[in-house]
Amino acid sequence: MTKGFPKNFLWGGALAANQVEGAWNIDGKGLSVADVATYKANLSLDDYAGHVTVTSEVIEKAMKDKDDKAYPKRRGIDFYHRYKEDLALFAEMGFKALRVSIAWSRIFPTGEEQEPNEVGLRFYDQLFAEMRRLGIEPIVTLSHYEMPLALSVKYNGWVERQVIDDFVRFCRVCFTRYKDLVKYWLTFNEIDSINRHPFTTAGIIPNRCPEGKEEELIYQALHHQFVASALVTADCHRIIEGSQVGCMLTKLTTYPNTCHPADVEMTLKKNLHNYFYADVQVFGEYPVLIENMLERKNIHIVMARGDREILRKHTVDFVSFSYYMSLTESAKDGLEKAAGNTIMGVKNPYLPSTEWGWQIDPVGLKISLLELYDRYKKPLLIVENGMGAVDKVESDGTIHDDYRINYFKEHFKQMKEAVEEGVELFGYTSWGPIDIVSAGTCQMSKRYGFIYVDQDDEGNGTLKRLRKDSFYWYKKVIASNGENL
Ligand code: BG6
Repeated sequence: MTKGFPKNFLWGGALAANQVEGAWNIDGKGLSVADVATYKANLSLDDYAGHVTVTSEVIEKAMKDKDDKAYPKRRGIDFYHRYKEDLALFAEMGFKALRVSIAWSRIFPTGEEQEPNEVGLRFYDQLFAEMRRLGIEPIVTLSHYEMPLALSVKYNGWVERQVIDDFVRFCRVCFTRYKDLVKYWLTFNEIDSINRHPFTTAGIIPNRCPEGKEEELIYQALHHQFVASALVTADCHRIIEGSQVGCMLTKLTTYPNTCHPADVEMTLKKNLHNYFYADVQVFGEYPVLIENMLERKNIHIVMARGDREILRKHTVDFVSFSYYMSLTESAKDGLEKAAGNTIMGVKNPYLPSTEWGWQIDPVGLKISLLELYDRYKKPLLIVENGMGAVDKVESDGTIHDDYRINYFKEHFKQMKEAVEEGVELFGYTSWGPIDIVSAGTCQMSKRYGFIYVDQDDEGNGTLKRLRKDSFYWYKKVIASNGENL
């Protein structure tokens, strides 16, 4: 039996370019879908799905707005200029790995240029070189909610097959340029999220979809992403010897609300649907039950000749996922609901919640690890986990975030048990190790970090970085390879 975490376990944190870099309109960067996202303190799911805020008119207006006032992701936390200081803090905590993403529109401003933007490429040269210098392994996501806005406007995002070629060109440039610096790659962040927020994930503008066709177009776009993911997996393996490519799933672990068979059946179907996205990327084919479900819904995906073969041939090397909370499912209507990561479920009476209503469930992480390993038999990597909370800075500049320490401590205990039961887990990167702009609400006040950033929701503040209590705690966890919780 294994005791504790493996020797070279990749402890670290995870970021996304559009939530940290800022520098939205300099050095040749084009607008991305993230640059038109506006601040919204209360997330309504319909809103986030893009049905309220993402219309062609809203986008047109945002394209004309030349400042970052209403658009917090345009400013991020100025990581573009402060990455050295931030990496030094991560190194001080002992990070072995950092997950970041490459902003596609920094390299190809509209997505359709034939030649990349050299200045954009140079930024990531420096970022990855500095990570290597500090002994921090880069884990790089190629698409994390930041496709060039121009592709969204011209093609309705991933709905058009043309975007596959544009993405493949972008990825080839990245593999060729960073082949000596980056070994671990993720293709699409939370590929399943296309169903929950089609604009953010795939540039699909809901009011551009013909009446009654939105769902079908979402599955069509998803198919294009599956094919693109398989093609770039092949390219990565060809261009970078020894490279490892992973898929990335939002692990929306769902329990039946009761043992009533109707609840159990609904839950089973929910979970099968969640797995479907990773199934395609790991097993190389669409699950039969999902194809039948699509057929019954009258959803027809147009596939080019050879697509199925591409999916079958180029599967991923490992499975990465995010885990924040669990949900429950019931066949009954009218039960009290709880919020989750861009999703709602029936409230679980056994679980506490964060200030944003996400239900805290450390055992759910262990269950997720056991389920995923049993199903895929592939190495696993946790690339997002954490707790968004409001932090208070004391007059002496300290921040006592014991709620966050508790959250991590309980999750790490479960993670360790799963590893000791035989799950092959090779790393853990917490979400937002430094405070960043929230993906869902664009808030700064929803803080995940071990490091505090002095900036409020309106963008006021010095941007100074401060160590929270959790900073010192995580440092000890890493130094003891997870023994000292
Ligand atoms: C994940 C995303 O779904 O959740 C991240 O990959 C996001 O980009 C994270 O930030 C937490 O969500 P939020 O809305 O609290 O930032």
